[in-house]
This record gives sequence, C-alpha cells and structure tokens, in this order.
Amino acid sequence: MGDRGKFIVIEGIEGASKGSCIQFLKENLSGYRIEFTREPGGTRIGEKIRKLLLSDGEDGLKYLISDEKSLTAVEICLFCCARYPHCKRIRRYQARGINVVSDRFDSSTLAYQIMGRRRGDLLWFFWALNEIAVDGIEPDLVVLLDLEPKIGLSRRKSAGGELSRFDKEELEFHNRVRRSFLDFKGSNWVVVDASKPEAEVQKEVLGIVKRCMEGK
Ligand code: TYD
Repeated sequence: MGDRGKFIVIEGIEGASKGSCIQFLKENLSGYRIEFTREPGGTRIGEKIRKLLLSDGEDGLKYLISDEKSLTAVEICLFCCARYPHCKRIRRYQARGINVVSDRFDSSTLAYQIMGRRRGDLLWFFWALNEIAVDGIEPDLVVLLDLEPKIGLSRRKSAGGELSRFDKEELEFHNRVRRSFLDFKGSNWVVVDASKPEAEVQKEVLGIVKRCMEGK
C-alpha cells in the first residue's frame, strides 16, 4: 500500500481565473497520479444536482422557491447532497495513492450561502449537514486565488460565456464572499494574489500544488 493521495482545493471568487489555472495544472502535472474534480459535481448524481443549482432558467431553484431563507436552506441541502458521494470518491482515490484537485469545496458554501447571503441564522444547519457530507475528509491544502470582486466580475463579463445565477449577484455579495474566504481561512490555506499576470499566478499555483503532493 503506497502513500495516501493528497486532497487539494482551489477556491476563489468569480473571475479569479480558477478555470484557466486548473487547466494549466492539468497540462503540467501529467507525470503525477492525479484526478481533477469540481463542486458542485464530481459524480454522476452531483453533476445533475449542479444543473439544478446553477441554472438561471425556469428549471432552476430560483423559480421554485420564492423566499430567500428557504432558497438558501435548500441550496445548502443540495450542495451537501452533491458533496456526500463526491467525498466518498475522493476518499477512494486517496486510499489508492491518487492525488485529487477539486475546483471548490465546503468553504464555498460558507462563503456564498452563509456570508454572501447574510444567513448567519443558517450556520448551524450548514455545519450539521456538511459534517455528514464530508464524513471526516479535510483538504491537505486550499489555494485561494484572491482578487478584488470588482476586477473579477469585469473579467468574467468580458470573457463572455453564460453567467450562473451566482455570477449575477450584486457587487456587495461578492465582497462578502471574498471576506469570508479571507476571514475563515485555515492553517492549511495559501493565499495567492490573483491580480498578477495570469501566467505568473499559474506558475505560482503549480509550484504550491507540486510541493504539497511531494510532501514538502
Ligand atoms: P462555476 O460555473 O463552477 O463557477 P466558478 O467558475 O466561479 O467556480 O459554478 C459554481 C458556482 O456555485 C459558483 O458561482 C459558486 C457557487 N457555489 C456556491 O454557491 N456554494 C458552494 O458550496 C459551491 C461549491 C459553489
């Protein structure tokens, strides 16, 4: 039995270039035993839940639930529902010595649903469901791509593509999301300044991820 694989999470606000950074990691870590995954998603059922959560159309949650507290509570349920099988999968990879890199994890629920939506009254609900969902899994490393939301949102808009209903939230919401990441970061977090040129950010993240996988 070899060493346990590392679990690495990339977090950040909208437009912090997580997507291109993860693409760069995929292209430059081919020599490692590594799997890339994302939240919400990462399993067949998780990808179905993702559609329901992110859709801004009439099939989306927003059209089914009109009051904000209920909507946020249902979102927390669904993010945790998708997270449960995802964590089982991550655990299986780790046990086989395979490293896992996830685009977002549970700090996003704290940042978006609790702090972004100012729903401190649902914090207990998040802790209870999330504890069941993660089932003891903890990231070995969280890389936070940190950026002013104003810059992130304008990057996201100029990149084109479909905006999720979270992308469309007001600037203040995104400022609270950023604050949450910075205020609640743990000792296993590394903050990277994502306002630097993209190539520089990608190289820095690659180095951080490699060091973690090599146990340095
Ligand atoms: P995605 O298209 O992957 O956006 P991004 O590239 O910004 O990650 O959509 C994921 C969206 O879901 C993103 O807007 C953040 C949101 N989200 C939450 O609100 N809570 C969560 O727990 C997670 C994992 C994501």
